[in-house]
Amino acid sequence: MSHTASVLFVCLGNICRSPLAEAAFRAAADEAGLDVHVDSVGTAGYHIGEPPDPRSIRTAAARGIDITHYRGRQLQTRDFHEFTHIFAMDQDNLRNIKACAPDDAIAEISLLLDLLPDRTGDEVGDPYYGGDDGFDRTWAEVSDAAAALVKLFED
Ligand code: 4NP
Repeated sequence: MSHTASVLFVCLGNICRSPLAEAAFRAAADEAGLDVHVDSVGTAGYHIGEPPDPRSIRTAAARGIDITHYRGRQLQTRDFHEFTHIFAMDQDNLRNIKACAPDDAIAEISLLLDLLPDRTGDEVGDPYYGGDDGFDRTWAEVSDAAAALVKLFED
């Protein structure tokens, strides 16, 4: 297996959406036999060092995936050199990521749902203030995008 993909998923807090995107992509890449370098971060530092939100942990666990060992991390300048692809969950985060990007960044920066032709420009909405059903919707979105991303790296 070659090292083909280095992907960073970014939301605000790194406890709800981006850990689920990371988990979905790891699972899809594993299944496809794709070697990946993957991580997730937040643009904000509210939850540095914390495990994912319990609702995210439950959502992943319901799909047989353990994310209890994930820990919150904030976007850093070196991420723009370490990752070839940076995916933002929403427009606010996309703007903030671009504002932090150094001139010599190697990362391509885009919205996650731009990977889905019929969802271009759409956001993975923040499920933080809602119930568990919002997290199921998040899972559906990030796992569709993860499947599309695996296809892209396989081609
Ligand atoms: P996330 O959700 O960006 O998907 O991780 C949020 C998590 C925490 C907060 C906001 C959104 N917060 O305000 O603490």
